[in-house]
Amino acid sequence: MPTATVRLSPSATIGATDKRLFGAFIEHLGRCVYGGIYEPGHPTADERGFRRDVMALVKELAPTIMRYPGGNFVSGYDWEDGVGPVENRPRRLDLAWMSTETNAFGTNEFIDWCRLTGIEPMLAVNLGTRDGDAARRYLEYCNHDGGTALSDLRKQHGWPLPHGVKFWCLGNEMDGPWQMQAKTAQEYGRLATETAKMMKWVDPTIELAACGSSGRNMPTFGAWEDTVLDATFDHVDYISLHTYINNYAGDVPAFLAAADLMDDFIEEVTAIADSVAARRRSPKRIMLSFDEWNVWYRTRRTPADRVKPGWPVAPPILEEAYTMADALAFGGMCISLLNHADRVKVACLAQLVNVIAPIMTETGGEAWRQTIFYPFAQFSHFGRGTVLRADIACPTYDASYYDPRGAQELRFPVTAAYLKLAAVRDEATGGVTIFALNRHLTEPLRLTVDLDGLALKSVRAARQLCDADLTAVNTADDPERIRPGLLSGVTLSGQVLRATLQPASWNMIRLGTAA
Ligand code: AHR
Repeated sequence: MPTATVRLSPSATIGATDKRLFGAFIEHLGRCVYGGIYEPGHPTADERGFRRDVMALVKELAPTIMRYPGGNFVSGYDWEDGVGPVENRPRRLDLAWMSTETNAFGTNEFIDWCRLTGIEPMLAVNLGTRDGDAARRYLEYCNHDGGTALSDLRKQHGWPLPHGVKFWCLGNEMDGPWQMQAKTAQEYGRLATETAKMMKWVDPTIELAACGSSGRNMPTFGAWEDTVLDATFDHVDYISLHTYINNYAGDVPAFLAAADLMDDFIEEVTAIADSVAARRRSPKRIMLSFDEWNVWYRTRRTPADRVKPGWPVAPPILEEAYTMADALAFGGMCISLLNHADRVKVACLAQLVNVIAPIMTETGGEAWRQTIFYPFAQFSHFGRGTVLRADIACPTYDASYYDPRGAQELRFPVTAAYLKLAAVRDEATGGVTIFALNRHLTEPLRLTVDLDGLALKSVRAARQLCDADLTAVNTADDPERIRPGLLSGVTLSGQVLRATLQPASWNMIRLGTAA
C-alpha cells in the first residue's frame, strides 16, 4: 500500500481564504436561469418565480458570490433589455448560444435572488458589442443613490435603494474567437482601461477584474496577460482565469492530475502580474479572480450539444451529467484553489444549475445534487480560514493530459503525487479541516499527518466520497447514487493523525481542539 506523510505546522501558512473564493456563476445559457433558478408556475416557485427547491439546495451548497449574466452571453447583452416592466422587455437573438432570450429575468431579479439567498452579486459588463459608455451607465443604474435619470429609473422600476454591487468583470473571455467582437490584447487593454476609469469615477468603491486568457491552452496565453495588465494595471484590481478540465482521452489518471496544471496556471499568472508590477517598481499586487472553473467536456466539443436549431428559449444545452470520477477531478481543483488562497481571492464554479452544474432540475419537476455538489459544499462550509502549507512526501506518477484547442491535439506532461491535499485552520476555533484526494485508482493510501504545534485533540468528522464505479452518476430517478459516507478508522494519537484513504477517493477530515 503506498504511504503519504504530511507535516503541518501552525507557523507555516499560505494565507487566509477570502470569502469570495467560494463563488459560482449564473449565465443566461440553456436552463440555468429559465427552468433553473427561475420558473414561474413551478410547484415550489415563490411569488417572484424563484424556485424554492433550488434555493434550498443553493443554501446547502453555500456559494458566497455569484457571477452574472455571462459568460459568452454578456458579450452581446444590452443590460437595458432586462430592466423595467417585464411585458415591455424585448425578445432577442442570443448569438452566444443560438437561443432566444426573453429577458423575463434581468439584473433586478438577479439582485433580489442574491439577497434572498444571502449571496454577494458580481456583475459582468459587455465589452464585446458595447463599450465603456454602456458599462458606466449600467453601474450608475445599479449603484448610484438617486437624483440622476438612470438611478431614478431604477427607483421607478421598483428598487429604491442602490444595489451596491462591488465586484465587476470587464467583459468575458475577450481573447476567444468564439466571443462576439473578440479583441486583440492591445484593443482589449485600451477598452478595459477606459471603461475602468469611468466606472471608478462613477463609484470609486467598486473592484474590477480584467479578462485574462480564457484558458492556459490559448495560443496567446502569457502575452495576453502581460499586454492587458500593462495597459490596465493602475485601474484594475484582479485578472481573471478560466479552466475547464476534461477527460476526452478517457485517461482517468491524467484527468485527476490536471488540477496540478491549474496550480501551474495560477502560479504563471501570478508571476506575470508581478512582473508587470516590477517593471513599474510598484508595490501593488494584482489578485486573481478564477471566475470560471469546473470539469466540462462531454457537452463541449459537439455542436449538437451546445446549439439546438430554431432559436429555442432556454434549450437543454451543456447539461453535463457528472460522474464519480468527475467529482474526484473537481475535488482536486478545490484543493488547488485553497492552496493558492494568498493570490486567488475570487473563484466562481461555472455554473450553478443545469448548465455544467452541481444542481440539476427537471423543468416542472424535481431538483437534485450532482456528484460535484458534495466536494464543493464541503470546500465552502469548511474551507474558510487560514490555509496551512502542507509538506507532503508521497509517491508520484507521470501522466500526459490531453487538452485540445480547435484542431490542435495539445498534450501537457504532468507528474502528480497520488495524494493531493489542503489543510485549513478555522481561526475562531483552532480546528483544522483536511481535504485529501487519493488519486491512486486501485490502491488505498496510508496517510500520516504530523500536526505538531496545532494542539488538536479530536476527530470531529471524517467523510469520504468514493465508489467502485467511477462512471456512476446521480439522476432524477436515483438522485443519491453518489453521496458522501463515513470514513472509518481515522485516529489521532498525540499529534499524529492516521487514516487509510480508499482508492480513487475524495476525503474530508475535521479535527477539533476539544477532547
Ligand atoms: O461556462 C460556459 C462558458 O464557458 C462561458 O459562457 C464562457 O465564458 C466559457 O467559455
